[in-house]
Amino acid sequence: MPEKIKQQQAASYSLLIQGNRDYVKSVTDVDPDFFTNLAKGQHPEVLWIGCADSRVPANSLTGTRPGDVFVHRNIANMCIHSDMSMLSVLDYAVNILKVKHIIVAGHYGCGGVLAAMGNNQFGLIDNWLRHIKDVYRLYARELDQIKDEKQRGDRFVELNVIEQVHNLSTTSIIQNAWKERFDLHIHGWVIDISTGLIKDLNVSCSNTDNLGQVFALQ
Ligand code: CO
Repeated sequence: MPEKIKQQQAASYSLLIQGNRDYVKSVTDVDPDFFTNLAKGQHPEVLWIGCADSRVPANSLTGTRPGDVFVHRNIANMCIHSDMSMLSVLDYAVNILKVKHIIVAGHYGCGGVLAAMGNNQFGLIDNWLRHIKDVYRLYARELDQIKDEKQRGDRFVELNVIEQVHNLSTTSIIQNAWKERFDLHIHGWVIDISTGLIKDLNVSCSNTDNLGQVFALQ
């Protein structure tokens, strides 16, 4: 590897360590016990299921701190019934941490969603994108009518979030929790990266009322 590239990589890596030292100092200057208290345990009230995109970090965008938000991220904030990683996070958040709010947070300009809107092959990830294409199939009539590609992509991002909220509400984890308590809500949000602002899609649900007979488990 050329020496110059090696030096650049070392610089970017050491910047992370330096950033950590600076961050810890800025926090402990204000609250010397912050990390000592943090080490005692976590009691977050929110589970965030977001996209892996580097531009949508849960804590920074919501002004929250370590300990406030339990987080799961994957490409295009998908909630797939057979994804053991997502289901394990969901189960732990709902049944052990007893979170009160689950937020599916999509974002405009999502590379995964936009890729699913086209027909290029990308390799292994195509199998993940298929789940997003399944959402397109559900809403093809509405989406095909939007001629402007950006507008179509934006709407697809919103519909994908709505569909993932639905997917969560059909899991036995969520439905069994709803039988025991009334303070568990699922929300759908979209982040506009160009402004940093969050848009609430107002699709929150906290019971099985609108799921239909097939999906509302006994
Ligand atoms: Co994304």
